[in-house]
Amino acid sequence: MIHLTDQEFQELVTFIRQKFGINLGKKRLLIEARLFSVLAEKNISSFTEYFNLLRSNPEELNTMINRLTTNHTFFMREPRHFEFLKDVILPEITENRPDKCLRIWSAGCSTGEEAYTAVMVMKDWFGLCSDWDYRILATDISTRVLEAAQMGIYSAESLQNLPTGWERKYFRKKEDQGYELSDEIKKEVIFRSLNLMERFPFHRPFDLIFCRNVMIYFDQDTKNKLVQKFYHSLKSGGYLLIGHSETIQREIVPFRYIEPSIYQKG
Ligand SMILES: C[S@@+](CC[C@H](N)C(=O)[O-])C[C@H]1O[C@@H](n2cnc3c(N)ncnc32)[C@H](O)[C@@H]1O
Repeated sequence: MIHLTDQEFQELVTFIRQKFGINLGKKRLLIEARLFSVLAEKNISSFTEYFNLLRSNPEELNTMINRLTTNHTFFMREPRHFEFLKDVILPEITENRPDKCLRIWSAGCSTGEEAYTAVMVMKDWFGLCSDWDYRILATDISTRVLEAAQMGIYSAESLQNLPTGWERKYFRKKEDQGYELSDEIKKEVIFRSLNLMERFPFHRPFDLIFCRNVMIYFDQDTKNKLVQKFYHSLKSGGYLLIGHSETIQREIVPFRYIEPSIYQKG
């Protein structure tokens, strides 16, 4: 095992926080454990040597972030949000929208379960013959999870919170292992790589932004700046949904608090 010196640890923590917002200041063992195999594969004998490689090769940065991010997720996680989508957001937004177009973003989507669950809820609500366009943009910094999201193959555990009948309706049990999501749901989600620390490349505002269980890894200042960017990326009346263990400081942005983890732009 190659250990980080104190100086290397500080340097790596600062680098990752500045570039990706993620604060790994208390995760020294995690960094050593997850990056050990990368150093071994490349025959690198110290983290200082590894930094030099990181700085000169963007592909290495990608490998590092694929190893260091925490991507755990599952279908119908924090179900209150999907209930709120069906009972409040969809009736409200669709009441007066002549262009029949919804703009939804799953920011920090990991392997896609959050965005795909939202599509299933909307299919259920609109009915199969809807002429509404409710495709979802789903973004993450990890290319590894985005590839898995596009494949759309999941374990039985990941599906276990779905309402009765949805597994049969939207998945095909694979002969070897896992469940494959139907094309009917997959085609409604557009996956893209995006670092939330960078300028958002969007020209049109969103009706709804999911950013759940992403900001828990960020420090307060980074969170505040990101929440401001989300505020400016929403339409007036649009919603921001965050994880239930997360909070936002409302003195930073004039979001209306609706209930825990649900905020609306006034
Ligand atoms: C725990 S998952 C959350 C997945 C899903 N939103 C949920 O609540 O189940 C957190 C995701 O945030 C992504 N992430 C962390 N920092 C990010 C950043 N700076 N830009 C974009 N995505 C980021 C990670 O790669 C990871 O896939």
